[in-house]
Amino acid sequence: MEIQLNNGVPMPSPGFGVAAISGWQVDTDEVAEVVSEAIQIGYRHLDTASVYGNERSVGSAIAAGGVERGDLFVATKAWTTEHGYDQILRAFDNSRRRLDIEYLDLYLLHWPVPDLIAESWRAMERLVSEGAVRAIGVSNYRISDLELLLASADVAPACNQIEIHPYFSQPEVQAYCREKAIQLVSYSPLGTGTWSDIPAEQKPIVDPLIREIAERHEVTPAQVILRWNLQHDWVPIPKSENSARMRQNLDLRGFELSEAEMTSIDALEKGKRFNMDPEEAIETTKHVAVPRGEASTAASK
Ligand code: A2P
Repeated sequence: MEIQLNNGVPMPSPGFGVAAISGWQVDTDEVAEVVSEAIQIGYRHLDTASVYGNERSVGSAIAAGGVERGDLFVATKAWTTEHGYDQILRAFDNSRRRLDIEYLDLYLLHWPVPDLIAESWRAMERLVSEGAVRAIGVSNYRISDLELLLASADVAPACNQIEIHPYFSQPEVQAYCREKAIQLVSYSPLGTGTWSDIPAEQKPIVDPLIREIAERHEVTPAQVILRWNLQHDWVPIPKSENSARMRQNLDLRGFELSEAEMTSIDALEKGKRFNMDPEEAIETTKHVAVPRGEASTAASK
């Protein structure tokens, strides 16, 4: 299925999140194989980031995947150390070189850097006007960051990719983005938080209500959570390295959640963030480098 971004560009949904496939910042043939498999299974939206350190593998999978480039939607992100006008243009060139593609479908500012939002966004707008990127957006933006951006933007952000799962659905950001026609993209949609130390029994995928709804519809808890995203018009980008789960996460059309079920899942919200807080990220992310991704350390093509 597809949704349409505010500039008319279609975005396939669900997408396939590729953070930490085979491990954090691993860029090997194994990663390319997982991404190729996802493409073969039917994913058409791939979501990576310069800091994931696997753009070369994603590019290899795109080249080998047997699907026309025009039928794929490829998104990557500029890390916080890459923000600023010249820095964004350079970062974009580096990502495009590593992915080995002509254009990007979506380029995102990975976390807010409030002091640099206006100038970073000017560079993003330039990339759109040059035809190098079909849509531009942000990730992990709070309402205050979006307000800052919109105050000087000529092009509105097409999306805000944020952590969304039943225990952390960010109702205020949801409402703000709906009002501004900014598409929400949900990362860590299963709430499994790859980088968190949250014990498995505390995650929404094992929540009794989610399990009960899953049993009623004869689907899995993950499918219930992903279907809840679709019915809210959010685009989830689940990650899996397992073929059966990859298939399952894409197979969401055979059932529909009732209004009562949707409302009961909404009510699970408890402000439980599994990933970094944007305020904390402003400082923390400065100390995380983007791997250069030189050919010698990358997946072979
Ligand atoms: P695996 O790769 O072994 O399938 P998120 O995208 O919410 O961060 O979740 C990613 C995590 O959730 C991964 O650890 C992934 O493990 C697991 N996962 C992905 N799909 C499913 C599913 N359908 N059921 C259970 N766990 C899943």
